[in-house]
Formats: sequence, structure tokens, C-alpha cells
Amino acid sequence: MNSKDISNLRIHYEKSGLSEASAPASPLDLFHSWFAGALQGGIREPNAMVLSTVSENRPHARVVLLKGASEEGFEFYTNYNSHKGAQLATNPYAALTFFYDLLERQIRVEGVIRKLSADRSDAYFHSRPRGSQIGAWVSHQSEKISSQQALEEKQKFYEEKFKDLEVIPRPDHWGGYLLVPESVEFWQGRPNRLHDRLLYTREGDSWGISRLSP
Ligand SMILES: Cc1cc2nc3c(=O)[nH]c(=O)nc-3n(C[C@H](O)[C@H](O)[C@H](O)COP(=O)(O)O)c2cc1C
Repeated sequence: MNSKDISNLRIHYEKSGLSEASAPASPLDLFHSWFAGALQGGIREPNAMVLSTVSENRPHARVVLLKGASEEGFEFYTNYNSHKGAQLATNPYAALTFFYDLLERQIRVEGVIRKLSADRSDAYFHSRPRGSQIGAWVSHQSEKISSQQALEEKQKFYEEKFKDLEVIPRPDHWGGYLLVPESVEFWQGRPNRLHDRLLYTREGDSWGISRLSP
């Protein structure tokens, strides 16, 4: 197929279904079940998710890696001074989108973001490979830079600076966020575009479940 024939690309979704009867009470349980399915089903980075944020009246989206999911929320790590960090400081509402191509599934999470504690960010920072820890010092994420070479020189500078340290300190500008979900939607592709969509919305301490039209 010619790459110009984009309009003819079409897949018939028929792998699975999603029923209210089989839906667990908490969206986190269904998330973990779909995540395990994605791992088993050959999705290479099932923890890659699109993080959408809003600054003033414009949306912004980019991929980040999920590093934990529990009843508390969805956890990821980044540079607090990056564009996303600045956007979250002015507007803490954000959305996450997972797409599992081979399983014909999408998960959408919406909610409010808060910073993780310094202790928790320290623990994750120190679990990362040493090169990534140095990278967090080197990169002023989202700032314009003169060249890749300038970045490599900075990398050498920090490698030298930390060469005698067993534990590299976490820079203040780097750490974790937790997205506390207010709603989670599970989408399962179905024949004839009549897909299954189950929306969980927070109702006090529990969750309500609604079916949405595809
Ligand atoms: C697969 C993948 C995983 C990524 N994981 C992260 C991540 O966990 N944290 C992060 O800050 N950026 C991650 N990025 C880079 C972001 O997409 C983005 O370029 C960066 O965070 C700057 O975004 P911002 O300018 O909107 O702040 C990842 C990119 C890809 C493609």
C-alpha cells in the first residue's frame, strides 16, 4: 500500500468484549488485568502513556512512562521545570491515554495531579541506572540548546563531578507526580465500530460504572 492511501487503512476489531457483568468494582483492578494482558500480548512498552496537560487555554500532549499504579493513583517521573511541569503548576488537571494496538484496547484516565513526596522521588531516582541519574542533572528538559555536543560536554562534567560518589543526589528539579483519577474509561474494539466503552467515575469512596456509546 502506498503511504498516501491513509484513508484505506482499516482494521476490523474482533478480539474481545467488555461487559458490565465482568467489570470489577475498581477501575484499578481492570487496569491491572489489561496491563497484564498487554505484557503477555506482546505490547513492548505497555507503560508508555500519553500525558495531556493544559496551559491557559491550550492543550499539550507527550508520552511518558508509568512507574506505578495503585488505588492511590498513577505515578510518573519527569523534570519539574519542563513545559509539562510548568503547565501542571498552573493547572493540575491532566489526562493519560494508553493504546494497546494488538489488543484493540484504549484506556483513558482523567484527574488531578500532585507531586509525590521527596522520599518517594528519592527512592525511584536511586533505583534508576547511574547514567539516567546523571542525565537528570544534565538535561534542563524542554529548554532550547545550542547542540547535542553541548549536552555531551555537560554529561562529561557531571560524570567527573560525581565520580567519587556512590550515591548521586536527586536534583530538586526532578521527581514524581501522582495522577489521582476522577474517571477511567476502558475501550474495547468491536465489529462494525460498535465498540464497548465502560466509564468508571468516582462516587465518594466507590466507583460508578456507565456504558458509553461508541
Ligand atoms: C516512549 C517514551 C517514553 C518517555 N518517557 C518519559 C518520562 O517518563 N518522563 C519524561 O519526562 N519524559 C519522557 N519522554 C519524553 C517526553 O515525551 C517529552 O519529550 C519530555 O518529557 C518533554 O515534554 P514537555 O516539553 O512537554 O515537558 C518519553 C518519550 C517517549 C517517546
